Amino acid sequence: MDGWCSDEKRDVLQEICDNENTCKVAEIGVYKGKSVIYMAQSLKKHGGLVYAIDPWTVKAVQQGYDNTDTNYKWWTKLDYSKTYNNFQENVQTYGVQETIVEVRGESQDVFDQFKDESLDLLHIDGNHSRLCSTRDVLLYFNKVKKGGYIMMDDTNWKTTFNAQRELLRLGAVEVKSCEGRPWALYKRNAV
Ligand SMILES: C[S@@+](CC[C@H](N)C(=O)[O-])C[C@H]1O[C@@H](n2cnc3c(N)ncnc32)[C@H](O)[C@@H]1O
Repeated sequence: MDGWCSDEKRDVLQEICDNENTCKVAEIGVYKGKSVIYMAQSLKKHGGLVYAIDPWTVKAVQQGYDNTDTNYKWWTKLDYSKTYNNFQENVQTYGVQETIVEVRGESQDVFDQFKDESLDLLHIDGNHSRLCSTRDVLLYFNKVKKGGYIMMDDTNWKTTFNAQRELLRLGAVEVKSCEGRPWALYKRNAV
């Protein structure tokens, strides 16, 4: 399936989602569903749920970027109704429609649908601009249970450095990372 979830990241996400204590997961940034479907395949075995947050709009992907930025240009060219249809088809193909709760909206507009300390795992993979990645950390950190996990994508992008600093400031601890296609897994302190 087209998407950005490496095999290494899939293995880490699935190891957490295979655990029967992982009941409620959220992903910010779904695209065609690659990582959310991997998580759903594991959660399905024990009745867990994953909330798939993405607006699938050009407006959302442009936020925080200058219009000369390579990312701005790449994401602006996409056909979002096609991408959204691909996501829906992939969910059907992999038979995970009962495990994925679609939340079509921008992360900053839907965060209050989640109660504080309700998520066992949060995957932050939405708009990677400094503004948006930092805002995702600030709005969603408290949604994660104490002792829960936060997977952050593209940790080598300068634009995500501030978001990572905020995670540490809020009391998250890095427990795993990958350098190939970089990501880092953080754990929210249990206290
Ligand atoms: C890198 S892709 C996600 C890749 C996906 N997780 C995978 O495994 O293939 C980034 C996605 O973030 C979405 N996005 C952009 N701004 C967003 C926002 N404010 N809230 C939620 N999603 C957003 C885009 O529409 C896009 O689909």
